Amino acid sequence: MASVLQHPAEQRVPVSATKLLINNRWTASASGKTFPTIDPATGEVICQVAEADAADVEKAVSAAHAAFERGPWRKMPASERGRLLHRLADLIEDHAEELARLESLDNGKPVSVAKAVDVAATVGCYRYFAGWADKVHGKTIPIDGDFFCYTRHEPVGVVGQIIPWNFPMLMQAWKLAPALATGNTVVMKPAEQTPLTALRIGELIMEAGFPEGVVNLLPGYGPTAGAAIAHHMDVDKVAFTGSTEVGHLIMEAAAKSNLKRVTLELGGKSPNIVFADTDIDRAVEGAHFGLFFNHGQCCCAGSRVFVEEKIYDQFVEKSGARARKRTVGDPFDPNTEQGPQVDEAQFDKVMGYIESGRQEGAKLVCGGDRVGDRGYFIQPTVFADVNDDMKIAREEIFGPVMSIIPFNSVDEVVERANRTTYGLAAAVWTRDIQKAHAIANSVRAGTVWVNCYNILDTRAPFGGFKQSGIGRELGEYGLQQYTEIKTVTVKL
Ligand code: NAI
Ligand code: MG
Repeated sequence: MASVLQHPAEQRVPVSATKLLINNRWTASASGKTFPTIDPATGEVICQVAEADAADVEKAVSAAHAAFERGPWRKMPASERGRLLHRLADLIEDHAEELARLESLDNGKPVSVAKAVDVAATVGCYRYFAGWADKVHGKTIPIDGDFFCYTRHEPVGVVGQIIPWNFPMLMQAWKLAPALATGNTVVMKPAEQTPLTALRIGELIMEAGFPEGVVNLLPGYGPTAGAAIAHHMDVDKVAFTGSTEVGHLIMEAAAKSNLKRVTLELGGKSPNIVFADTDIDRAVEGAHFGLFFNHGQCCCAGSRVFVEEKIYDQFVEKSGARARKRTVGDPFDPNTEQGPQVDEAQFDKVMGYIESGRQEGAKLVCGGDRVGDRGYFIQPTVFADVNDDMKIAREEIFGPVMSIIPFNSVDEVVERANRTTYGLAAAVWTRDIQKAHAIANSVRAGTVWVNCYNILDTRAPFGGFKQSGIGRELGEYGLQQYTEIKTVTVKL
């Protein structure tokens, strides 16, 4: 098997920011410790990054607290906050190529995807919330008696934000943009696998002119820096994206400390339901994209593909053919569709699920092995004849592994689609408007796509039912998670 190409050194990206950003200054960690960030295409260390722990969280929270209580940030006109966010969006756009390469180097996603999706959506997200900054207002309420009653939508305060590695720059934007638009201050921990773009954007945040203490960035690990943020008494809210397991820990930390507000964006095992009346080629392509996009590392991945019996064999055959055509390789090659998984732990986890699918008797249609002999590349893998009780049908794999499952009727597929602890997304492919709405109305998930998949937009809310999360991100609904409502009543 051919080894995956190493990208030439001149295509690598200079790395400028590797420290903690606290109070608009780049600093080493209090312990002096650093940790390596890895290029998943080669397994080699890109550079060392300062490793934050509880002492650094203490400093960052105190800077964020001071900025919230006493800094120019709170007195600044809301429109000026919007202007700063617009300036940041412009700077990110000016550095689109560099940021896409840096994201690709640290995360392993193709540069072409990083630019077309991650950078573009990041810019769009900052712009969208920039527009909201001076449009967040309350109501006047006609209460009984001789009173004037109104509400104010005030910032929550110091917000802790803990983000994952699958869309590093974009997850940073989903968290920072609404928090800043509404006037909060932030202590953010990027994922330990992918700290580099978050820190580079930290430099652009300073260049844009955000006042000191408003955005603090603490690269480091979850059980140390992350947990310290979640437990901190002066952190008023935590917004987290990651595993359901850690989501439980975040809520527990909030309960044990100061009842900080918690929003969670967690895992999924999303059903993608294909009826026999659909345009099969479009559904095959849609299901392929719905699962294999970002190497399967999407919380909303359509990882349970339910296909109506009548077209099942044909669908399996076409899906296998499509997956075999998927180009896996060097993320810096413009023809690459799929790069490596993000790190060795994820690689091992995904390979373990492939093994379990084999052992539990699912039929391996294609893939199943690693690609090359270094880095964390995995063949696009399709299993057919998967039943609902197999591990690969129940647990989040977070890798390029599709499970295709037969079904016969609407009621049956709804019941089986909902038989999961998750509820992030779902999709249905059909020409029958009745079936489309039957699924849209009865699947318990935060997002339902009809004849499409992975259509996310900064204006539309995203989040989960059940153990896929609490609260929503993006759009006006997402904005609401960053304000407290104050009722003011005046005797006339
Ligand atoms: P994770 O949940 O451990 O990591 C996500 C973030 O949480 C990282 O910044 C991490 O440092 C932090 N974290 C970890 N432990 C923490 C703690 N005790 N307190 C506070 N913060 C903590 O996820 P991980 O280990 O990277 O991936 C494991 C699985 O989670 C994946 O295989 C996938 O199934 C799922 N996942 C889901 C994501 C999503 O978008 N919903 C994103 C990343 C992972
Ligand atoms: Mg890395």
